[in-house]
Amino acid sequence: MSHLRLKVLEAEPITARIRSVVLVAEDGSSLPGYTAGAHIRIQLPAGGERHYSLINTDSTTDTTRGVQSYRLGILLEEAGTGGSRYMHDLAVGDVITVAPPKNDFSVATHDGPAILIAGGIGVTPIVAMAAELKRADRPFEFHYSGRSRTLMAFVEDISEACGDALRVYCDDEDGNCIDLERLTKSLATDAHIYVCGPRGMIEAARERALAQGFAKECIHFELFERVEEQAGDKPFEVEISSTGQIFTVPPGKTIIEILEEGGVDLIYDCQRGDCGICQTTVIKGIPDHRDVILTDDERASNDVMQICVSRALSPKLVLDL
Ligand code: FES
Repeated sequence: MSHLRLKVLEAEPITARIRSVVLVAEDGSSLPGYTAGAHIRIQLPAGGERHYSLINTDSTTDTTRGVQSYRLGILLEEAGTGGSRYMHDLAVGDVITVAPPKNDFSVATHDGPAILIAGGIGVTPIVAMAAELKRADRPFEFHYSGRSRTLMAFVEDISEACGDALRVYCDDEDGNCIDLERLTKSLATDAHIYVCGPRGMIEAARERALAQGFAKECIHFELFERVEEQAGDKPFEVEISSTGQIFTVPPGKTIIEILEEGGVDLIYDCQRGDCGICQTTVIKGIPDHRDVILTDDERASNDVMQICVSRALSPKLVLDL
């Protein structure tokens, strides 16, 4: 499906750093439908793109058959520059180019209870999941955690839509921080868990759920932060085993970026380290794992790595490409 030209219909702050933005087709036509958990990819004027989940809080609306608008929740990230700043500053009437909805985080993976866990702005796909589950009359719990109630988006909307299924946790309220160990211990074993939020929350939820005996396939997640360059990142070499070509990956660039620039054909998708599509076998060398998809044991084995985000601890990696 070709790209969409969308116009900003509404843009308003809902917390100090989050804006709600409603987009409609520039030509007034209806927009492609989507299932809960879907995102759109917005092209940035300076190049590159950003992914935003589509928000729906209305459990009476079937969004799969086409909609009149898309709603996003846009966080101004800590650094507040580049793409985050551009998106946060969108104003009514601005026109943007967007790839149609795509869903890598669907709640329709099973029929049993769904446990929704959201951290911060990671609430955006989870809200739509709750609405879809409610519409389908499927059992679910919604655990929404944030630093402070005033910084958490859509609490009222979700509360109205979900009633008792919603539990809100705030780090700055005594005795009201989310306890993932306790939570995962309380879950029925036929539940599926859906987590969206920062890296630490996803890793903690996944490790605790695995420890409780949940199968890896029952734990679904989407990372809601970008993997940034870290202090101390160094250049390293990557050798392609099939051709012997050697590339140098400098700080600030990913293996995928460098290999693609060098003409290597690669398959990848999320570029955040959460979908697993770019997973590559490591023949030699020690990866510096920065994904969220591998378990601790898989990371320790150093047999595979996600080349969209991970780097190297050794001076050179030989990859099975
Ligand atoms: S592209 Fe998704 S994990 Fe690398």
